[in-house]
This record gives sequence, C-alpha cells and structure tokens, in this order.
Amino acid sequence: MTSSKPYAELRGRHILLGVCGGIAAYKSVELVRLLKKAGADVQVLATPDAGRFVTPLTLGTVSERPVLTDLFPEAEEGSWTRHVTLGRWADLLVVAPATAQTLAKIAGGFCDNLLVATVLSARCPILVCPAMDEDMLAHPATQRNLNTLRSCGYFVAPTAYGPLASGLTGQGRLPEPEEIMQRVREALAAGPDDRPAHPGAENDDRLRNKHVLVTAGPTREYVDPVRFLSNPSSGKMGFALAEAAARRGARVTLVSGPAQLDTPARVERIDVETAEEMHDAVMAHRAADIVIMAAAVADYAPKERALQKIKKKNGEMTLRLRRTTDILYALQQQRSEGQLLVGFALETSDGLENARRKLREKNLDWIALNMLAADSGFETETNRITLLGRDGREETVPATSKREAAEIILDRIASAPDRPAA
Ligand code: CTP
Repeated sequence: MTSSKPYAELRGRHILLGVCGGIAAYKSVELVRLLKKAGADVQVLATPDAGRFVTPLTLGTVSERPVLTDLFPEAEEGSWTRHVTLGRWADLLVVAPATAQTLAKIAGGFCDNLLVATVLSARCPILVCPAMDEDMLAHPATQRNLNTLRSCGYFVAPTAYGPLASGLTGQGRLPEPEEIMQRVREALAAGPDDRPAHPGAENDDRLRNKHVLVTAGPTREYVDPVRFLSNPSSGKMGFALAEAAARRGARVTLVSGPAQLDTPARVERIDVETAEEMHDAVMAHRAADIVIMAAAVADYAPKERALQKIKKKNGEMTLRLRRTTDILYALQQQRSEGQLLVGFALETSDGLENARRKLREKNLDWIALNMLAADSGFETETNRITLLGRDGREETVPATSKREAAEIILDRIASAPDRPAA
C-alpha cells in the first residue's frame, strides 16, 4: 500500500496534469489517484486524442474535477482565456504521458490546444514525462525538442526501459506513477532559481536584488494581559507577496502580525504583535526599495493596557482608545529616493473613492483595493483586487487565488517606471 505521508508537501497544492494521446495514458489515472491521496488539488487537461486511450469520465472521476480539453469551449461563454487562469493557478504542471507530438508543439511554442496553450501561460515549474516508442524517442527531432524544453528550465523525467506498445522492448516507457510522484516532489521543492524561465519572467529582473519589505497579518492591541482588539486577517496575502517577491530574486523582509503560516523560503521574517511593534520593525527597514503594507494594522489601541486582568463589575464599561501611528503615512514622510510605497485598502463601501483618497493622502505609488465579500478579504483563499496607480492607472483583477493576485501585483509594480526623485 502506498503511504501518503512522504508526500505531505503536496497537501493543498494545485497540480495541472496534462494527459496526451498515448497508450501510457492509462497510468495517468493512477497518478491522479496518488496526487489526490497526497492532498493535492488536481486539474486534468487532456489533448483531443487523449480520450481515445482513457476516458474523460475516468480521469474526471478520480480527479473530482471535469477534464478540460477545449481551448474554445462553446458551452461556457467567456472562458476562452482559461489557459491563462489555469497557468497562473498551478503550483506545478505535469505532462504525463508527453507524446512526441505534444513535445514538438511545446518546444515550438504552439498553442493550438488547451494543454499546450496552458504550458505557454504557466509560471510554475513544468515537469514533462515523455513516453513513446524507442525509435521515436531516439529521433534527432525528439531529442532536439527535449533539449529545447530543458533549456527552458523544464524538468524532463527519464523514460523507463521495458516492453513497449509496439511489441518491441526498449527505452521509452512512462515511469511508474510512484516514480513520477518522486519527480513531482523534486520539481515542487526546486528552488526559485531552478524554476523555468517563462515568458514574462523578464519582469523578475526588476526585483532581483531589490530589498522588498512586506507587512502581513493583523495586529493585536492589548486591553489587559488576556484580552486584545484585533481583526481576522490571516496574513495570506502578505505571505503570498513575500513568497512571490523572493521567487523573483528580491531580498525580502516580512514583518508579520500573529499568523499561522509557514515562512516562505528565503524570506527574513520578523514577528510582531502590536501596531507599535510593527511600526518599529518597519522603520528599522525603512530603506527598503519597495514597501508593501498588506497588514491589517489596528487604527486604534486601548489608551491604557492594564497590567492585571480586568475584573468584571456591574453595569457598562468604557474602553478609551488612542490612535495608533499610521505606518504608511510615517514612511512616506521620510521616503528615500526612488522608493516605492504600496498600500492596501480593505473596504466595505465606496471602495474606489476611498482607495483613491488613501492613495493621494498617503502619497502612495500603488494601492490595492480589496472589497470585503464572500470570496475576497479576510480569511478567504481568493481576493478580488483593483490596483490603482499614482499615474491614474486602475486595473481590476477578477477573483483569483491570493498567490496569483500577488504575482499580478508584483508584475505591475515591477513594470512601472521608477519613481522620480523627490
Ligand atoms: N496602515 C498603516 N498604519 C496604520 C493603519 C493602516 O500603515 N496604523 C496601512 C495599511 O497597512 C494599509 C493602508 O494603510 O496598507 C490602508 O489601511 P486602512 O486601514 O484601510 O486605511 P486607513 O488609512 O486606516 O483608513 P480608514 O480607517 O478610514 O479605512
């Protein structure tokens, strides 16, 4: 029996599995099963010929998601851009089995079916598992295509030796699903520098070696040793920004209020509790090239913090509050030359109006407006963001994962011209 324990790092990860039309497609069913068992969220993308070898019903049942094939689905209006959405959703894209035809298409940059179009759009690591007859594999054209994929930074799994569909015995078999799982882990665990260089990654250089300071999570303002004022911010948005910036080669400092999240790789994390502590930590790093204030900082704190637990009495109780320091406002008053300041605005009404005002009043370069809704705001997995720029740009990003929203925000920040000297 297969234990799911060694694959704990797959829990909650988004995996796109591209299945091509080859006899080895039957192994994809077992691969989906193992991925699901390890807790991954799996979306199968099948080429039009894949269905001749394994039915969408089978793959859809084991993956618990409908199999997607059409680049231009007729039934679902407006979803012809889903190769882009899928490409950004994924933490890893695996093509198994990858036929000679699909390898050639990917190497040539073709996008005439949903799978290969998604490969072009994907920003995550890509693992390709070729499977074909030995002579097809050995052909210089196939070998050239595989080398092209390697040069793009893709992971290419070696084929296995054994009986082939042609009746011959040789090199070209798809590795067993358990072995592919091992490759999946390696591809997911690969450091940012090992990740594929994708189209669009040129923006990454804009953040390379820059110091990016991100704040995340809520703050706690203590009334007494056992009570505090706070908010339900999970910190996910800020952590996603820190992770994405580190992946783009930035030096990242993450100042976090209480958050139950793992520190992203290569991120320096400073834990704080109160707005005052957050202020001090941010100010200690105020020379950063880019500051992104994603934290939900309390605007008010109790005027006094009782040293002992406050005991209840009959009747009402009055809590006197004082304003906390506005960290962003304080930062912009002493902003260094060329420094970019990015704020967040969580609003429940008049979002655009409020965000424009905050952008102006806090003298920011960007503000990300986040309207509180069932799929956006505190504790949600997704965010619906409108990004407003100092130059008047306003871009609404549809509801996406916070990781994807982070990528979009960093893209826009990275592509903006440097701020003129003050
Ligand atoms: N912020 C900050 N310091 C504070 C409060 C907020 O730096 N003491 C930052 C937040 O991290 C966010 C931005 O300011 O990036 C906007 O925060 P928000 O609370 O939405 O705006 P406020 O200016 O506090 O306005 P209001 O309370 O009227 O909504």
